[in-house]
Amino acid sequence: MAKIRPSKGAPYARILGVGGYRPTRVVPNEVILEKIDSSDEWIRSRSGIETRHWAGPEETVAAMSVEAAGKAIADAGIDADRIGAVVVSTVSHFSQTPAVATEIADKLGTDKAAAFDISAGCAGFGYGLTLAKGMVVEGSAEYVLVIGVERLSDLTDLEDRATAFLFGDGAGAVVVGPSKEPAIGPTVWGSEGDKAGTIKQTVPWDRFATADASELPQDSAGNVKFPAITQEGQAVFRWAVFEMAKVAQQALDAAGITSDDLDVFIPHQANVRIIDSMVKTLKLPEHVTVARDIRTTGNTSAASIPLAMERLLATGEAKSGDTALVIGFGAGLVYAATVVTLP
Ligand SMILES: CC(C)(COP(=O)(O)OP(=O)(O)OC[C@H]1O[C@@H](n2cnc3c(N)ncnc32)[C@H](O)[C@@H]1OP(=O)(O)O)[C@@H](O)C(=O)NCCC(=O)NCCS
Repeated sequence: MAKIRPSKGAPYARILGVGGYRPTRVVPNEVILEKIDSSDEWIRSRSGIETRHWAGPEETVAAMSVEAAGKAIADAGIDADRIGAVVVSTVSHFSQTPAVATEIADKLGTDKAAAFDISAGCAGFGYGLTLAKGMVVEGSAEYVLVIGVERLSDLTDLEDRATAFLFGDGAGAVVVGPSKEPAIGPTVWGSEGDKAGTIKQTVPWDRFATADASELPQDSAGNVKFPAITQEGQAVFRWAVFEMAKVAQQALDAAGITSDDLDVFIPHQANVRIIDSMVKTLKLPEHVTVARDIRTTGNTSAASIPLAMERLLATGEAKSGDTALVIGFGAGLVYAATVVTLP
């Protein structure tokens, strides 16, 4: 048996830079109320959302990603040609193949970086971060770009009271690279496929393409509805509140710290009541800064954590070197939590 030389990576990995892109169009709750029987007060009090961003025709998944990633690369202070891999987490890139990551890697000016998409719903950022850390430490890439990007407005049924107000568009990105100290803790992650039906696409693409119009969901004007994301709101809410606080605590334990050691908490921005409930269950001390970016960004799935991280750093609510707990959870159902040092 031939002796294979082992690959050589960095001792540890860290997030070196972060960037975000929010589409220019800001959509207030009033616009959502044109299609559903609800109120601004109900949406604010039940979800925390006041406005969200919807992408225009030019703000494609690739274009938003390039904007966010360009900022993350500049923030990391490296040249794009040193990026060895581009990992894009999205559920709203509409071409089955090729992956959008290759187009993004090319547009950013990387030197033929490895590039691929992953599908892990609202846990996508944590999944990408875990892969990136592995690549840097194992040595297959010196710097890895992790992008979470969504155009969920394309997959929202504006006549569905349970979801019309929830989703937004945007892109968030981080650069992960070598570190002398541990700066990304162990990931606590997993899936619960027995709950796969609680968040799903209304109609799979193949059925949408082949079924008779009369068999497909129709809007109030009688037109066939484009497939959208649907969810059992209460079931997801209960799961997030009860199970995800446990996962968050496990991530703190795995990193060998307590909530007293935390500076920042960046949960997936799904619902402000889920965030508040987790803060309570985890008994986070007063000094911990909590991301509540959902108010003006809505739920942007894989993009929500890096977008919230970028905003906290940009506004000075969090600072470089702070210790942050990040946790994503959503369709699958899937989840991923880890403790990181902020760039
Ligand atoms: C969607 C969500 C905000 C709905 O809130 P909720 O409190 O669970 O709402 P419910 O569906 O139980 O409905 C409660 C009441 O509000 C009404 N309601 C539902 N949608 C409404 C709307 N858009 N506007 C006004 N009233 C509404 C219902 O008809 C119901 O009325 P009733 O009590 O008279 O029957 C909430 O379930 C949620 O955030 N779930 C998790 C979402 C999430 O995180 N998804 C993504 C995971 S990544």
